[in-house]
Amino acid sequence: MDNKIFDPPKPEACVSKIFEASGAKFDTDVATNLWKKIMRHKWILSERLNRDVGFRIACNDFLENIGTDEEVTTHNQEKLLVQMGARTISRDIWDTISDTQPPKQLIQKKIILPLIEGDLSQKHGVIPPKNIIFFGPPGTGKTHFVKAMAGRLAWWYVEIVPSILMIDGVDKIGMHLRELMEKARNLDEVVLFIDEFEELAGSRDTANRVDRSITNEFLKQVPLMKSHTNKVLLVCATNYIRQLDAALLRPGRFDYVIPVGSLDDDGRRTVLSYYLSKMNTEVIDLDLLITLTTKFTPADIEYLFQNVAQQAFEKECESRINFPVTTSIIVDAINLFKPSLTETMDEEFRKDVATYSRI
Ligand SMILES: Nc1ncnc2c1ncn2[C@@H]1O[C@H](COP(=O)(O)OP(=O)(O)O)[C@@H](O)[C@H]1O
Ligand SMILES: [Mg+2]
Repeated sequence: MDNKIFDPPKPEACVSKIFEASGAKFDTDVATNLWKKIMRHKWILSERLNRDVGFRIACNDFLENIGTDEEVTTHNQEKLLVQMGARTISRDIWDTISDTQPPKQLIQKKIILPLIEGDLSQKHGVIPPKNIIFFGPPGTGKTHFVKAMAGRLAWWYVEIVPSILMIDGVDKIGMHLRELMEKARNLDEVVLFIDEFEELAGSRDTANRVDRSITNEFLKQVPLMKSHTNKVLLVCATNYIRQLDAALLRPGRFDYVIPVGSLDDDGRRTVLSYYLSKMNTEVIDLDLLITLTTKFTPADIEYLFQNVAQQAFEKECESRINFPVTTSIIVDAINLFKPSLTETMDEEFRKDVATYSRI
């Protein structure tokens, strides 16, 4: 091999050549160093394939499959995060959830602390969780909690929507799921969220052939998360815990199966105050609103206040006179509103808590 051909061009040229080929921008000294390695890889690839391989191919193959330098790993991770739609979440969400709202304290003690206090948890033999399930009626704040956790941990938030896995037809869902989980396992500091989990991991007793194979894939993937040491927390949420395959719920698969139910008085105080703070109001009788909203989920409260705010906005648009929302306007809206939690749902949820929670 003639070493001369690996003499790099000017640093800026290395940066731009690699950028043109791959879209990845590196600092000048990193790029110069990488350029040499890519050229060597280009030579090796050309020998192996018995044809002259271009710089673009060599560069991308090197960055994706060969490079182990920290910069390359970081670059690949960043690329993967973008591909997977990773987002950052503000820490504020966590702080706006009332400390008394279950399961906040539990999440703080059993999930957040072991993950951020790595040395201490090791000292005490506490194993940080790798995968958990949230269950509970719609609108109770499951998704909200997952985002809040990502914000609190200051980790990436990556959501897997079942429809993404279906892009190549139902037969390929299992394959896409496996690929996705393999990629996700190599990330770091990521909360990986799968919503509507029952759609992907329904009971195999009632499922058709395709659904069964997806559930089987999950049964394989979930324990694999545990064998990796990097910081990835898989969180699955479902409104219908009974529909999940029983094998997934056995101890050893998911670390915790956590119920998210209705709000207590204090929880409603926090949620009500949060939405009130965004509106133009007179002094509001918060205690009265708390007593009138016992069956309201956070989603109900959000929806109710959006309607009230819209009405006030329309009134002021018409009259151009300040139109503050009053307690009685809100009470009227509450009286007209049908909250989503019914007695039956509460009853069913209590049974589910007794049967399925593991915390
Ligand atoms: N503690 C909370 N404070 C303020 N808003 C909340 C809270 N919990 C949930 N919400 C809001 O209520 C709505 C429904 O919550 P979500 O997490 O989507 O419910 P679920 O996932 O259980 O169906 C969302 O718009 C969310 O932002
Ligand atoms: Mg949700």
